[in-house]
Amino acid sequence: MEYTTAPLEVPLDGRVSVPGDKSLSHRAVLFAAMAEGKSELSGILDSQDVGATIAAVGNIGAEVDVSPTCDGSLDVSVGGWGSAGPSSPYGPLDCGNSGTTARLLLGILAGWEIEVTLTGDRSLSSRPMRRVLEPLSSMGARFVSDSGTLPITVHGSELMPIVYETSVASAQVKTAILLAGLRAAGRTSVREPAQSRDHTERLLPAFGVPVGRDQALNSCWVDGPATLKSASVRVPGDPSSAAFITAAAVLIPGSDVTVTGIALNPTRTAYIDVMKRMGADILAKPDGVHGTEPVGSLHVRHANRLRAATVTADQIPSLVDEIPVLALVAALAEGVSRFEGVGELRVKESDRLTAIVDGLKRLGARASAEEDTLLVEGPSALRGARLDSLGDHRLAMCWALAGLVAREPVTVEGFEAIDVSYPRFLDDLASLGMPHT
Ligand code: S3P
Repeated sequence: MEYTTAPLEVPLDGRVSVPGDKSLSHRAVLFAAMAEGKSELSGILDSQDVGATIAAVGNIGAEVDVSPTCDGSLDVSVGGWGSAGPSSPYGPLDCGNSGTTARLLLGILAGWEIEVTLTGDRSLSSRPMRRVLEPLSSMGARFVSDSGTLPITVHGSELMPIVYETSVASAQVKTAILLAGLRAAGRTSVREPAQSRDHTERLLPAFGVPVGRDQALNSCWVDGPATLKSASVRVPGDPSSAAFITAAAVLIPGSDVTVTGIALNPTRTAYIDVMKRMGADILAKPDGVHGTEPVGSLHVRHANRLRAATVTADQIPSLVDEIPVLALVAALAEGVSRFEGVGELRVKESDRLTAIVDGLKRLGARASAEEDTLLVEGPSALRGARLDSLGDHRLAMCWALAGLVAREPVTVEGFEAIDVSYPRFLDDLASLGMPHT
């Protein structure tokens, strides 16, 4: 499906609450499935990615009951398999487009004596899984995979604990190892080159499993064997979805928008600091804690003048999903913005680094990638274009946003990719005043 956005002549104005956080929704469902007893989850994101996780755990023995609510989120009650372990599914588990589903399930299944095949769509089947298979194999799990990508068959077995240093800062890799560590006798610890999002470290204790942390060393650990206990979890709004609304309000003249109820976890909100450094008028107001996550609102007003910013490699993990939208903002800011150490973007839902450069150039902006650095020179007056989402939800939303701030309309092919993380994207923009085209 294609969708065209046209230059917006009216400001965005009002309050909006974005849907539940994707990373937390996956973790809440997976941890509840692993737990002994019945967990009650609310605010769960209703999207394709989280749907893949819900379906997967239902196929391996969790008792899942999903109720849509009037705010568009899901209430999910999950009877976990606990110490009985997951059961063998009838066929392969389809992880769809979701890297989090695939990588976390590999860690969860590695320590149980079952044989399960994980599959995914074309994009997910080309994404690197060796980064998870290697540590899990050295713990004792066995995998069959042609080339270190999906489909992968897990032959779970008894595991040994591991002390592991990852070469990339990845919350998915870290979480897979920690979850496998719950099936090994002794301490399993993971150290990363930079701090990745820490939802697992925060949420596992709510399911009765302590997680040790040394934040100065970017390391964390669990002591196994351990069984999770059921919990009640309320998932706050997704800061990565809020980033699109925030950028729209920053860029569209006269806008004044408040995004409420989002997770203000510092391992996720670095994009706010970067936009502020660029001259954006954003006030983040913490207003409490939802279970394990700080939450609050963002008050965003249009910025008359934006300037370029440099984002260094150590900051990338805490804004890794926001680089497409930050690059779009950079195209409208004065000077050369640098995003250093962004090589990981090549193995996201698409090769985002190439796609950002190509897309911005087609919009008439100046952008280039030099090894692992993305350079965007602005300000450019963006022109209309026809751009392919490449099946990547964040690109689909980024290019739709470009159409709101360009001189001419932008058509996004494969726009349905937004269903992966933010099916309500257009409705939320419409609620702030964007006319439906
Ligand atoms: C995620 C972690 C990040 C992020 C992805 C979701 C998670 O990936 O890009 O959208 O839920 O743990 P990596 O951990 O591979 O960096």
